[in-house]
Amino acid sequence: MAVQQYLHLSSGHKMPILGLGTWMAKEEETIVALNEALAMGYRHIDTAPVYLNEQAIGGVLKEWISSGKIKRSELFITTKLPTPGGNNHELVELSLRKSLQDLQLDYIDLYLIHAPFTVVLADDNGGDLKRNADGSVVIDGSTDHIGIWKEMEGLVAKGLAKSIGISNFNIKQIERLRKHCKIQPAVLQIEYHVYLQQPDLIEYCRSANIAITAYSPLGSKGVANLYKMAGVKRDLPDLFDIPAVKEIAKKYNKSAAQILLRWIVDKGISVIPKSTNSKRMHENKDIFDFKLNQQEIEQLNKLDANIRVVDFGYLKGINKHPEFPF
Ligand code: A2P
Repeated sequence: MAVQQYLHLSSGHKMPILGLGTWMAKEEETIVALNEALAMGYRHIDTAPVYLNEQAIGGVLKEWISSGKIKRSELFITTKLPTPGGNNHELVELSLRKSLQDLQLDYIDLYLIHAPFTVVLADDNGGDLKRNADGSVVIDGSTDHIGIWKEMEGLVAKGLAKSIGISNFNIKQIERLRKHCKIQPAVLQIEYHVYLQQPDLIEYCRSANIAITAYSPLGSKGVANLYKMAGVKRDLPDLFDIPAVKEIAKKYNKSAAQILLRWIVDKGISVIPKSTNSKRMHENKDIFDFKLNQQEIEQLNKLDANIRVVDFGYLKGINKHPEFPF
């Protein structure tokens, strides 16, 4: 049975509050996991070209839709305008058309600008980024959010995207965009979990009728690899090991992950936990048969520590970009 809680977006469309994240899900495991996820009721799937799994997802979706097991209208698929080379006017429609081709879809439910900054692809373009001699990424400082957004609006007019939004933008950037847009951003996707609650940003989005999707709701332990490969030392927090979370989990006979997710959806925020493991996908979906009480919610609210797991530190030098948001 499908997960039935939705957020109503300013675009007039509705988004299932619970989705499946696919960042760092490799092609082969994505195929198996997505088949299992659809069978257990996931209908909201989040991907991006940089995750390198759109083709795998497209193959599975095609199979489910063409065999009549699912209707296209039951699905909510999100993908993103790539940051490397794609955050550029002419490339907006081309990028979405490439994603749609890979996903084997005629339209996308939600198209997000993946990040407010732009980096440059290597000349030989195997998907790698262009680097300076010191290993830092080559920045394209000419990022023009307003111009890109006009192209995003064009995608809605052409019926290629039902809703459009942004990811990793800060309040100043959203505010500037909103002053110049015809279509307001329907969704902001950001890192959000007990250790990174960003009350000002959340409050701002509520007042602007922008729905929030929380990425890394479980703390994205897998990101450790990216930092390691980039030679960056980072101690990532373990959200599953927080005493208050463990204590509440025990009380409800739920896992720590389920407590962390339920706390988010109770705030009216959408979550996209990534898993390719059948048991954990089940667990992450099974969060609607209990309710945290006010005292427990407040106990978890107090954990906010401004700890950002995905600060893009694995892209050396990206914090020098004029639109770096953090
Ligand atoms: P796996 O895919 O092996 O399940 P986030 O959504 O915050 O990015 O977290 C994803 C990470 O957390 C992945 O490493 C994923 O691994 C793991 N994960 C997902 N769901 C659970 C769960 N219910 N319990 C423990 N780990 C989980």
